[in-house]
This record gives sequence, C-alpha cells and structure tokens, in this order.
Amino acid sequence: MNKNYFITTPIYYPSAKPHMGHAYSSVVSDVIARFKRLDGYNVEFLTGTDEHGLKIQRAAEAKGIDTKEFCDEISKTFRNLSDLLNLTNTDFIRTTEDRHIKSVQNLWNILLNNNQIYLSKYSGWYSVSDEAFYNENEIKEENGINLSINSGSKVEWVEEESYFFKLSEWENKLLEFYEKNPKFILPKSRRNEVISFVKSGLKDLSVSRKSFSWGIKVPNDKNHIIYVWLDALTNYISALNFPDKNNIKYKNFWPADVHMIGKDILRFHAVYWPAFLLAADLPPPKRVYGHGWILSGEEKMSKSKGNILDPLEIINKYGLDPLRYYLLKEVSFGSDGSISQDKLESCINSDLANNYGNFCQRVISFNEKNCNLSIPKKDNFKKEDLIILNKISDALDTLRLNIDNQELSIYTNFIVDCLFDSNKYFNDQAPWEKKNDIKRLNTIVYVSLEILRKISILLNPIIPETSLKVLKIFNLNQSNINLDSLKNHEILSVDSKIEKISILFKKIEKND
Ligand code: MSP
Repeated sequence: MNKNYFITTPIYYPSAKPHMGHAYSSVVSDVIARFKRLDGYNVEFLTGTDEHGLKIQRAAEAKGIDTKEFCDEISKTFRNLSDLLNLTNTDFIRTTEDRHIKSVQNLWNILLNNNQIYLSKYSGWYSVSDEAFYNENEIKEENGINLSINSGSKVEWVEEESYFFKLSEWENKLLEFYEKNPKFILPKSRRNEVISFVKSGLKDLSVSRKSFSWGIKVPNDKNHIIYVWLDALTNYISALNFPDKNNIKYKNFWPADVHMIGKDILRFHAVYWPAFLLAADLPPPKRVYGHGWILSGEEKMSKSKGNILDPLEIINKYGLDPLRYYLLKEVSFGSDGSISQDKLESCINSDLANNYGNFCQRVISFNEKNCNLSIPKKDNFKKEDLIILNKISDALDTLRLNIDNQELSIYTNFIVDCLFDSNKYFNDQAPWEKKNDIKRLNTIVYVSLEILRKISILLNPIIPETSLKVLKIFNLNQSNINLDSLKNHEILSVDSKIEKISILFKKIEKND
C-alpha cells in the first residue's frame, strides 16, 4: 500500500500580516497531516508565500520599500506563524526562490512546446486584489466603481499584449475529468459550482502581463511576466523538485492527495490548475478541498474589512491548543463559520476544561488516592467496559475515512461524544463506591486510563501539546503513539507508574 501522503495549504500573499483566515487553512491542514502520520504515513506538508504580482508590487510601493525586502519581511511573519501554530510542515516555499522560478519557466516551456500558449492581446477586467480576470457578466457597478460580483473587490480595465493559454480546449476534458473523479472537488456543493462554471463555457486565459515587472519572466520574451496564478499554482510541484520527475520527492508525492484551500480560490485550483497540468501531460492533484470562510459577525474576516482577530493575540491570551480546538469545533467544516472571543471562551470552558480536562483530573486524582499513581491490575472487562472501549476501536476505520474525505467536523464531534461517554462511564461506574471490591475498582480505573489514552491519541492532531502532556504521564511520547494502538484495550502495562498532571485548561471567568 502506498503510504505517502502530500497535503498543501494555499501559499499566502505577503501583502499584509497573517490573520485568522490564514491560520485556519494552515491549522486544518496540519490536523490532517498529523492524523496521517499517526496512521503510519510518510507525510509531506507544504506551505509558503506567494510573492509575485501587481498586488504585492503595489503593497510594497505603498510602504516605499523595495519589493523583495518587503516580501522578505512579511514572508518571515508567515513562517513565524507556522511555528506559533505548531504546524508540522515539512517545507516552506517562497515563489521568489530559484527552485520555484526554474520550475515555473520549465512548465511554461512545456506548455509552449505542447502548443498550448499563443501571443495575442487582452482587453478586459482585472482585479488586482484577487489577481483575477473577470468576464463582463461577473462585474457590477456601485457608485461609479466597477466591482467583481463574486469577491466585491475593485476591478480595472486592462488592454495589453498578452500570452494566452488555450483553456477553451480543455472544457470537455475537464468535465470528463470531474466525472471520472467525483471526489476531485469537495465539498460536493462546491463541485457543482465548478461544473456549472465550466459548462457555461471557458475562454482562453491570459497568462502573461506586460505593464509591470514584479514576477517571473516569460522565457524567450523578457517583456512579459508570467501570470501570478500560473506562477503560484506551480509551487505545489516546484517544492517536489519538478521538472526533475525522477526526483524521489516528485515520485513519492505527486499527485498531491489534497490541496486545502479557501472557497475563494476554488476556480484557480479546480479549473485552471488541472487544465495547466493536463496540458503539460502531468497528472492533476487527487483532491481540491474548498473550505468555508471564517466570518466576523456576518462578514468574511479580511484585512480590507478591518474585522480581523489576530491569531497572535489570541494565542498569547488563551494558548495555542484552545485556538486550534476552537477552530475545528466551531466551524462546521466546509461551511462558513463566525468566530468570536466570547464563543472561544465558552468552548474552552465547556469542551476543554469541563469535558477533557475534568475527565483527566478525576481519573488521575482518583488513581492517586486509591492506586498510588500506578496502573492497577485489571480483572475481566464487563459489558459496560467493553462498550466504551470498543466505541473508539470500532470507529477507527470510519475515522480514517472521515479524515480522507476531510470530514473534520464529524471527526471532532466523535471525540466530543466519546468524552461525554467517558465522564458518564466514570460517574455510572462510581469506583468510589467499590472500595469493598478492589478488583472492580481497579478495573474501572484501568478502563478509564485506557480511555484517556485513546481519546488523547485522537485529540493529538488537534491539540498536540496538551494531548502529549497527557500521554507523557503514561511514558508515551510522539514516536510511540499511533492509531493502530487504539484497537488494543491493554496497552498500559500493569504496575507501571503514572505521573501526576497539572490542570490541562484553566476555566475562564465569564460575566454571564
Ligand atoms: N496567494 C493566493 C493563494 C495561492 S495558492 C497557489 C491567496 N492568498 S491569500 O493570502 O489571499 O489567501 C489564501 C487563503 O487564506 C484563502 O484561500 C483561504 O484559504 C485563507 N483565507 C483568507 N481569508 C479567509 C477567511 N476569512 N476565512 C477562511 N480562510 C480564508 O489567495
């Protein structure tokens, strides 16, 4: 079985500091990467920054800084955010790196040799903010300003010589490809959007610009620079050392298992990218998942709207794991979801402090008082014990499928459900009433510790630091925790010591 797995985040525009929307794409990708590693996969996890184009050039000009210096500075803040979010990315690509530039120019030459690119003239609408060309029917006028209907961003009229990619030739082939690969675009609703967009007819795509300079030059025509999306999308293969198709990274990891992106950039990933690849005789990725937006109130959280929750401030105030958990729990994955500090605090109290933290504290302190902080000897499991123990082992294959289909909310909700059941199990079995039946008392404690171990493993991809803190009391560390061990109800070895543990999550005082 192929045990390689390649997941990517979008590469972010370093036009401004990172915000919660960026953190969201990165965290959900990291959860999947970590889960797959726990399942024994060799995971390549790529993120980075998308540094060319007019948007970046103008942002640097506005600050009066040299464009490359500007990118260096902001790209660093994205790299720092990856560390702060405890991402397990294996690479961080910048599109200003030589490895990438070489790769993009190479892809261009292949497209040119395959007769997929020709020189002509573009006249039409362009949004610098989206770095996207729009058709007349995608534009509206408001107070004398022309805007993209879809994104609401300003568009400007462009007329210049441009190279075109023969996208129109790929309409039917793309539709066939979607048909043959029903899970290429997820969630399903977004797949339907893409299919109707393609069915409405594809025009050839302008893939070079002449009127500014910040980008990768078209080989053999230095007056043109390559369209920033053709440049940016190629990051997914340039990081695997394309064009060297014999390179081990390329061989192991292309086609990617999933490009995790926000729904705002679906068209680029689900239409243009597979068309470029097919036109270059390269296989398209296996999956493009377009997640929803993080909203503030009713609106998309974005720099231009000024309604940003700064991930850094939130991490400083509440800690990283609460933020990671909250993003997973609050937003029904695939849909938009509104977040707020107030709801974050409630989530910390209810799920993390009262549910996971409480179970952990109760079991360990009961153990301390009655079993001397060691793993007690268990008797035969009773039916009630097996129900709770089997709940996770029986669900394992479904959970694997959930993650393979990016059903992150189902995964998270299953854990929450297990936590409720665990607290209930401990209450119902009431080991404090079994002081005359030490065998039973010990068995209940053993089962409870096993459940704590299992749930902490399931939580590990979401809240890696805290779950590891729990697993360490059993002397387990990252390298010996894995999903297969969830099938086994007797991993903890009798008589071995467990360590005391401090409170996992402090409850937050709320005024309501
Ligand atoms: N540079 C392009 C992507 C190129 S990928 C080959 C880009 N960058 S971006 O910085 O503007 O945004 C990247 C991604 O950040 C979005 O697609 C989305 O995944 C995420 N988000 C930005 N704002 C967001 C929200 N408010 N909510 C959720 N995610 C959003 O587009």
